[in-house]
Amino acid sequence: MTTSVNAPLSARGKLASAMPAEQLAEITELFALRRTGYSLDAPFYTDPTIFKLDMEAIFGQHWIFAGSVAELPEPGDYITVDYGPYSLIVLRTDEGDVNVLHNVCRHRGARVLTEAAGSTGNLVCGYHSWTYSPEGNLIHASAPGEAKFDKNCFALKRAHSREVAGLIFVCIADVPPADFDETAKIFEPYLAPHDLSKTKIAYQQNIIEEGNWKLVMENNRECYHCDGHPELACSLFPTWGLTEGLIPAHLEEVWDRNKEAQSSLEERCRRYGLPYEVVEELDTRIAGIRISRESLDGEGESFSADGRRLSKKLLGDLRDFRLGRCSMHLQPNSWFHFLGDHVITFGVFPINEHQSLVRTTWLVADDAEEGVDYDLEKLTYTWKQTNLQDKAFVELCQQGAASPAYEPGPYMKSEYQVEAFINWYVQRVQEHLA
Ligand code: FES
Ligand SMILES: [Fe+2]
Repeated sequence: MTTSVNAPLSARGKLASAMPAEQLAEITELFALRRTGYSLDAPFYTDPTIFKLDMEAIFGQHWIFAGSVAELPEPGDYITVDYGPYSLIVLRTDEGDVNVLHNVCRHRGARVLTEAAGSTGNLVCGYHSWTYSPEGNLIHASAPGEAKFDKNCFALKRAHSREVAGLIFVCIADVPPADFDETAKIFEPYLAPHDLSKTKIAYQQNIIEEGNWKLVMENNRECYHCDGHPELACSLFPTWGLTEGLIPAHLEEVWDRNKEAQSSLEERCRRYGLPYEVVEELDTRIAGIRISRESLDGEGESFSADGRRLSKKLLGDLRDFRLGRCSMHLQPNSWFHFLGDHVITFGVFPINEHQSLVRTTWLVADDAEEGVDYDLEKLTYTWKQTNLQDKAFVELCQQGAASPAYEPGPYMKSEYQVEAFINWYVQRVQEHLA
């Protein structure tokens, strides 16, 4: 590893620099006072200034999951990705590259593209028709001659993009953190066999959760609450996050079944040359990651009531449906499940301090036919239910954080990944404030 996690990524951003000394000292102290092993103080979830700081120090500095290649397969295809005050256009160019442009017209700032996804040639601003090439260059401004200006100075602002194993990441920092290369080397071999370039979107769901983005991420990083997911518990072992000695009596039988299923999964992975080992570096690197391949209950194939496949078409060059779930967590805003028959991507896009967009996308083999190879209702059922349950949990916590009676509570052992997420977050913001 070449990157020191303690090295500052860049100079302190605008907000932090412009903050009155007293406010900066107050916020810096709040971070310093954070009690290890406990949830955060209320302002981390409710204070608009801390939200702005999150946008600057986290979403303004790091690689953010935006979507997958299935969302922009052809030249001209684009998605718009919004978080906090930012809106980005993520566009497939004629050359097959991914361009990321700030969705802010250089004339008077109008949003250039207003749809969440689509296909376009040049980009025409709807307000006064300034027209940009897919590279973002201003190629036409109507009513020429009324003002003299150099078109070259008014290109759409660009940001960075990375495509790894079919996942697309964006970074709006001038200099993106370098250790993403190392993280990409970790996850690429796990995901590549599922070949996202040969998938299509079966369904995409956008939910707005009335909760701070960190509560959405915290909720995802533990299964202590999995009793609240009856549909998911049919296939996902609810012992996730537990270790020997921590198994409650009602889960002992499940634990044994999980162990057996895991060892037979590992044997199959070795046969097919698929990596399955747990790599966990959630707070020990800047591009924090956890990845593993883990068994599913029942038939062990997919997120269905009996663990059976939900699509008849295998992904990529896989030769077996019974591959459990290759699951990945990336800091700061995503998690994924790669199965033999489909892939689910999850991205969290903060709106403000108390609202977040959670985008879930189900991908199937591009030659899978709806109604023939898969039933859309069945394919999406488990995670649609689970997402609604999680939304409710997150919203309960947001309400709690807004109450004067709230005070941070202790994380249980099985919530160690929540702690890792918070460690990561606190370290990153502290570096930014230093
Ligand atoms: S604001 Fe876009 S053309 Fe005027
Ligand atoms: Fe959950």
